[in-house]
Amino acid sequence: MLFQKKNAAPLKRAYPVPEHVAIIMDGNGRWAKKRGLPRTAGHSAGSETFRRIATYCRDIGMRYLTVYAFSTENWKRSEEEVAAIMSLLKKYLLEAIDEMEEDHIRLHFFGDLSAISPELRELTQRTDAISEKYDGFQVNVCLNYGGRDEICRAAREFARRCAAGECKPEELDENGFSELLYSAGIPDPDLIIRPSGEVRISNFLLWQSAYAEYYFTDVLWPDFTPQELEKAIEAFHRRDRRYGGVKR
Ligand code: IPE
Ligand code: IPE
Ligand code: MG
Repeated sequence: MLFQKKNAAPLKRAYPVPEHVAIIMDGNGRWAKKRGLPRTAGHSAGSETFRRIATYCRDIGMRYLTVYAFSTENWKRSEEEVAAIMSLLKKYLLEAIDEMEEDHIRLHFFGDLSAISPELRELTQRTDAISEKYDGFQVNVCLNYGGRDEICRAAREFARRCAAGECKPEELDENGFSELLYSAGIPDPDLIIRPSGEVRISNFLLWQSAYAEYYFTDVLWPDFTPQELEKAIEAFHRRDRRYGGVKR
């Protein structure tokens, strides 16, 4: 099953849960290499971590979790590795559909799904459609996602609407542009976590991250635990989010 059963009542929290957390699930390959295993074993372990962390996020009352599962650049990897990642995704979506009536989790996708296999695409559409009615915890899975690609598509769509006479260039503002992105209607992430020691954004949520707080850790994604997530949440609450203003 994609999401484990609800745990016992959540512990009293020292810090409130951010509304929207986004995670770059990185470090699967290095995790496997350290153990002398093929990279695909790392992806498999990473997907278990995803289940655990998503369950935990739901149980502590988070509203949105956005995870980077496959980027527009990840096609550069070997055919075998790409196939393994796609097959793990397929397995989870099948499980998610099975468990949906019980889990009540909204599963949504960000990315260009036209490039994935018709079978996987159909599963994403089905998962999205079935879970649309749930308005509690939402997981956004970024699949064949690239921040630049997302912005280009939005610009293209706006240009198309202008050319069709539906709107005028001067009418576009930041809110209107946001509504053309995959994340339309979803608040920007408060906190973006990147495990694995890399300190870069790798084309993730470029527009939406304008005022996100970042948290980097050396822990590899398959080793990432709810305790690590709590460390990130704690760090987030020590930040002073000024949004360009002055500290009061
Ligand atoms: C993240 O782990 C998973 C994907 C990008 C699909 P990596 O596979 O990038 O792991 P490293 O960075 O090579 O360790
Ligand atoms: C970012 O990780 C993409 C995902 C985690 C899905 P990468 O491993 O692809 O990023 P780089 O190559 O280190 O920048
Ligand atoms: Mg990586």
